[in-house]
Amino acid sequence: MVKKMVKKIYGIIGDPVAHSLSPVMQNAAFEELGMSEGKEAAVYLAFRVSRDELGDALRGAKSLGFSGLNVTIPLKEKALSFVDAEEVAKKIGAVNTIDFGGGVVGGAARGRGYNTDGIGAKRVLEEEEGVGEIKGKRVLILGAGGAARAISFYLAAAGGEVTIANRTRERAAELASNLNLNLRNARARALGLGSTAELKKQLKEADILINATSVGMSPNENATLVTAEMMHSDLAVFDIVYNPLQTRLLKEANLAGVKTVVDGVKMLVYQGAASFRIWTGQEPPVEVMENAVRNALERRT
Ligand SMILES: NC(=O)c1ccc[n+]([C@@H]2O[C@H](COP(=O)([O-])OP(=O)(O)OC[C@H]3O[C@@H](n4cnc5c(N)ncnc54)[C@H](OP(=O)(O)O)[C@@H]3O)[C@@H](O)[C@H]2O)c1
Repeated sequence: MVKKMVKKIYGIIGDPVAHSLSPVMQNAAFEELGMSEGKEAAVYLAFRVSRDELGDALRGAKSLGFSGLNVTIPLKEKALSFVDAEEVAKKIGAVNTIDFGGGVVGGAARGRGYNTDGIGAKRVLEEEEGVGEIKGKRVLILGAGGAARAISFYLAAAGGEVTIANRTRERAAELASNLNLNLRNARARALGLGSTAELKKQLKEADILINATSVGMSPNENATLVTAEMMHSDLAVFDIVYNPLQTRLLKEANLAGVKTVVDGVKMLVYQGAASFRIWTGQEPPVEVMENAVRNALERRT
């Protein structure tokens, strides 16, 4: 028997999506704020949606009265053409949050698209004592996929000197020129990951290293693109991969005596908190969300 009526439906769409931590995180927030019960009860679910089904899924969600969605791999770029996206999401070229108008910001006929990935990463770094202000910092970003696009946009906009290093060099070059085109003061550079000597040179000069590739993610937990002897102790090392929590890259950073070592959980929480704010207009309980994610990750190991 159905015990309660749900009035507000939120969710995450992607493929694969079964292992997403967003349901645990967002439902913990609804519960904490008393939003999971009562006449306006809210729930957050995961829906597996393929690239081919994306248009139907978004039109269906809107018709069924869904309140909002997060979008993940491999749909973030394609989702842009099915929503009215805010300017920043358009410039990044990807959407990770859709508001169908139930929130205070929405109201658009097709759902309004946002990208909160980069905001989260920037905030995480700024909160670190060993990093602080991004302006003038030399940032080496590994990867040129969806996450790298969002992160590099926010860090370059904040005055970071961004270098994109990617396995497929052309993607790094395309991303760097997109940043330079859209941000007046950006001077982003690109390199391929083929030359270890060039990567080592860049690492020597970098203040911040960010892994925004999927390298090191479970089940390939022993993989890393950078090892301890390539790092210097003043480098801040941030791995956005959070599964496992202690990635090989972060272990290598500890071996190298790096003082600022940051895992991917806070970024996940901050992007989710930003989505929550867009949908509900309420201040999200960030600590509760972070605990929910860390507990869920611990249960998995
Ligand atoms: N903490 C968070 O909140 C958060 C948010 C978003 C994503 N993430 C994590 O970040 C990772 C990337 O996500 P995404 O959405 O950007 O994925 P994506 O769009 O599929 O991009 C994947 C990136 O990884 C690179 N890559 C994959 N395998 C590689 C290998 N063996 N060697 C070198 N490079 C490799 C790809 O290079 P090519 O271009 O050469 O293929 C590409 O740059 C995932 O693990 C995801 O879980 C975390």
